[in-house]
Amino acid sequence: MASLSCSTLTTSIFHTPLLLKTPKPTKSKNGTNGFPYSCKKPISCHNKNNYEPQIGPIDRRNMLIGLGGLCGSAATLNSGLPANTLAATIEPDYQNCTLTDAAWDGSVGDQCCPPKIDPSKLVDFKFENYPNPVLRVRKPAHLAMKDPIWLEDYKTGIAKMRSLPTTDPRSLVQQARVHCAYCDGAYPVVGYPDTRLEVHTTWLFASFHRWEIYFFERILGKLIGKPGFALPYWNWDHPDGMRIPAMFNDINSSLYDPKRNPDHLTKVVDLAYNKSFIEPDYNDQEQIQQNLLLVRKQMLYVTKPELFFGAEYVAGDVGQFKSANAGSLERSPHNNIHIWTGQKTEGGQNMGAFWSAARDPIFYCHHANVDRMWDIWTRDLPGEGRVNLNVPDYLNIYFIFFDENANPVRVYIRDSFDSEKLGFTYQKQPLLWLDRNKTAPKPKRTTLKAVPKRRTAVKSDVVEFPKTLNSVIETKVERPKKNRSAIEKEKEEEVLVISFESGMWMGFCKFDVYVNDDGKYDLKGKTQIKDEYAGSFTSLGHKDGEKGMMRNGMGKNIELKLALTNLLDDIGAAEDEAIQVAIVPRIGTESIVITGVDIQFIA
Ligand code: C2O
Repeated sequence: MASLSCSTLTTSIFHTPLLLKTPKPTKSKNGTNGFPYSCKKPISCHNKNNYEPQIGPIDRRNMLIGLGGLCGSAATLNSGLPANTLAATIEPDYQNCTLTDAAWDGSVGDQCCPPKIDPSKLVDFKFENYPNPVLRVRKPAHLAMKDPIWLEDYKTGIAKMRSLPTTDPRSLVQQARVHCAYCDGAYPVVGYPDTRLEVHTTWLFASFHRWEIYFFERILGKLIGKPGFALPYWNWDHPDGMRIPAMFNDINSSLYDPKRNPDHLTKVVDLAYNKSFIEPDYNDQEQIQQNLLLVRKQMLYVTKPELFFGAEYVAGDVGQFKSANAGSLERSPHNNIHIWTGQKTEGGQNMGAFWSAARDPIFYCHHANVDRMWDIWTRDLPGEGRVNLNVPDYLNIYFIFFDENANPVRVYIRDSFDSEKLGFTYQKQPLLWLDRNKTAPKPKRTTLKAVPKRRTAVKSDVVEFPKTLNSVIETKVERPKKNRSAIEKEKEEEVLVISFESGMWMGFCKFDVYVNDDGKYDLKGKTQIKDEYAGSFTSLGHKDGEKGMMRNGMGKNIELKLALTNLLDDIGAAEDEAIQVAIVPRIGTESIVITGVDIQFIA
């Protein structure tokens, strides 16, 4: 049996600059494989002098939290999910694509059914069948477009996709249908005809979308006769990339989509966008700082797979509405960018609704950056919790896409983890959000006073649930553990769990969560990203299957899980016995009923 000593780990992680960290193994370092870690001298695991990040100053304390538990987490390295996930693997019933009423006007149609798949033609994905002449280097869009040859290729490729016959699965229209099929419940789940497969708000999100842009990129390359062609990524986590890349605004090009919000074409993106009636009143610099802090929180403060990738989803679940818990990768800013880019009317078309999003070429550019965030989270950020999930039911889930020759191919989640093996990589860009000093200014502290040891006197601050979310809800939440060591913090993330139920929402839905904040919220205003901001629930409205097949049992047991450990350190509340939690409704929350606010610990 392999055994890693503390010093082995120290060498491999500590001596490698942050952004050049050797790709982590594709197979997760998962306890389920019986992969033992031993650590006899945990103290040496957080010798900060050994760790030199490559770019700029970085918050040491986060590094220590991230690294301190390399050894401390010995006993609990795992998928971050319950081990008893033994239900059947999800399989799409691709022969039975159903009509949906996903479109904004409620009409029932087949807008989510790609061309029928001939089962005799369907093959399993094999790496050797999809060779790559070169490693495709995906570049930030705002830099890639400076290369006129690349830009011409890109426009030509999209133009060709647009002009393919609409029966061709490689046409833009059909590519969008493939997304719609998996996002609006067009496929029943094999063995569970009353449920519809849904890739959003679950752990399917990252992998499904990686495969989607993988084939989109191969198709583009084939159509222009350049098999090494690489997609651009919308570098919205860097100040230079925080506007719609200019090439998408060229009205005469194939990259243009008229169904975008005309007010946002040249604006700095608001990564916490509320779609409220009042547009953000920040100047560009303030908006950029807010955005950087948001990305910092969704990436660096999120330390466990469940919190990053989303909740487990196995056959028999009714998809997103049972224990729905999108990960930070999906919730914000991914969802917000969809809404911010799409129109304000017509149900948010194109980008603002899942059924139509992939009709806009910018969708694939946006998702390339989402995909890049996945790579950065698992490879470049510190902390042994940042691993791909290693749960058999998860690894064996498959989707069906069409390749560059229009052939159907069955792809498995297990083959999606290693981007270089798939033939692509991302050109490095500085990660300014790692530097706390480049993000939004720190507000002044308003910590809740420590409560006395005997709690009988503080009851008045604790709200009774259930409570409808039609105004700000503020409640006190007691903390089961405090004063945790760096090793304990690495081992277990302290997580704020907002439990709620909801009726159907058809449009964008969002509420924000703050901890120990001063409590002045302009409900029609902008979300302020600051240290006290813990995260948001965001959901693009969409239906699943005709008449919303998933409504049965819908809206129960939804949980929003937000990492607290770094936040509490930021606001100086790590030793407090209780925290004050504010839930701030933003849009579409009319039918949301909060049923509980608790703290859990996730290993
Ligand atoms: Cu399937 Cu960005 O969405």
